[in-house]
Amino acid sequence: MKLNVTVIGGGMIVADQILPSLYQLQRHGNVGNIVICARRQSTLDALPKGFTPTTAPYKDVLANAAERNLTIVALPDEIHFDATMTAIEAQQHVICVKPLVQTVQHGQMIERAARDRNLFVGVEYHKRFDDRALMARDRYRRGLFGEFKLGTARLFEPWYYRHSNFQNWFTLNAADSFTYIGCHYVDLVHFITGLLPTSISVCGIPEKFPNGNEGWLWNDARVRWENGAILNVQNALGYPDLGPGSNTQGMTLWTSKGDAGGFLDHNDSYRGLSYCYVEGDKRSPDKRYSEPSPDYMQIIPDSTGGTRVVGYGYRSLEALIDAAAQIELGQTTLDHIDSTGILATPKNSYFNELVTEGARLSLANDGREVLLQYGVLPFVHLKSYL
Ligand SMILES: NC(=O)c1ccc[n+]([C@@H]2O[C@H](COP(=O)([O-])OP(=O)(O)OC[C@H]3O[C@@H](n4cnc5c(N)ncnc54)[C@H](O)[C@@H]3O)[C@@H](O)[C@H]2O)c1
Repeated sequence: MKLNVTVIGGGMIVADQILPSLYQLQRHGNVGNIVICARRQSTLDALPKGFTPTTAPYKDVLANAAERNLTIVALPDEIHFDATMTAIEAQQHVICVKPLVQTVQHGQMIERAARDRNLFVGVEYHKRFDDRALMARDRYRRGLFGEFKLGTARLFEPWYYRHSNFQNWFTLNAADSFTYIGCHYVDLVHFITGLLPTSISVCGIPEKFPNGNEGWLWNDARVRWENGAILNVQNALGYPDLGPGSNTQGMTLWTSKGDAGGFLDHNDSYRGLSYCYVEGDKRSPDKRYSEPSPDYMQIIPDSTGGTRVVGYGYRSLEALIDAAAQIELGQTTLDHIDSTGILATPKNSYFNELVTEGARLSLANDGREVLLQYGVLPFVHLKSYL
């Protein structure tokens, strides 16, 4: 089945991951027409041609979209809620880039609105489609590691992000580097272990962007889990532009069972490739040495003489779009997708919204611990020490 796709937003994630993946799925016959809606014509002009561009407001674009097709929300975090709800009200299946929304209440509203209409909503946590995450999930759940105890994770995005459109939306009141990228590793620890986070504390260092706006550009988070385990997560827009990778990222989990200790250690940026080019990088002319990741998104030659897109960024979109098509064809149910737990949905990953909401509250209170409460009406609150 071919779903027509409306993409809202035309920034970095659309250029790097979403659009190349959509073009490949279109070639495979899984995607029909592609419309991309952005505020500025120059944003649309910078993307590879093959889609219908529009600068109309997304509410108007969605009001005219054919019902029961697909919308991909790729906007700054704080407008995910409005755009996702607008798409659901326009009878669209939705894929939203992570984090879905910034409060658990908004996540639940999305869940109910979509379920009432039998629409699929998927959150694009692409690290779940890195084979190493799926291997770890399988082996952890078979008991090979024992139980998670202590962990540390890091994801530092490059320094040059500070010079991009980020400086307009990644401001103190709207975003921070933990909820922007640290959320991937909180999601992964749940994805692998099945454990739920129960409290969070986030400290940050505010710094100015080149345009003078201030953002939480360095963050340190501590997440406690329902079995007492503790994960430390460090994030920043601070990886040196001259550094060999396009970022640094990875995770170590220490585990135990009975009298034996175990661990799982993923270097998610250095994947064994070392290149030294004879000319400098376009963005950083002094940079010639590089450690590219073959695993996220690459465009490589294929046997037909053309190219194809490979990597977990592509596989993630392929799986999410396939789920929307299966719902539309009546070949699966929302309950089945929720309970299988491979795709992140508002129902099976609402712990991420609790973490995001708790993280923002903790940051606003200089790192005080925030408890995450589950149940019929999930909520977060500052831990009392009285
Ligand atoms: N690793 C990841 O999973 C990952 C990586 C990058 C981005 N993201 C997520 O993707 C989202 C967008 O990030 P990005 O890096 O592409 O940001 P970006 O700043 O490059 O792009 C944002 C886009 O949204 C557009 N936009 C803003 N308001 C709009 C509106 N009202 N109508 C239409 N378009 C509008 C902007 O013009 C811009 O094109 C964020 O939620 C981010 O967290 C996820």
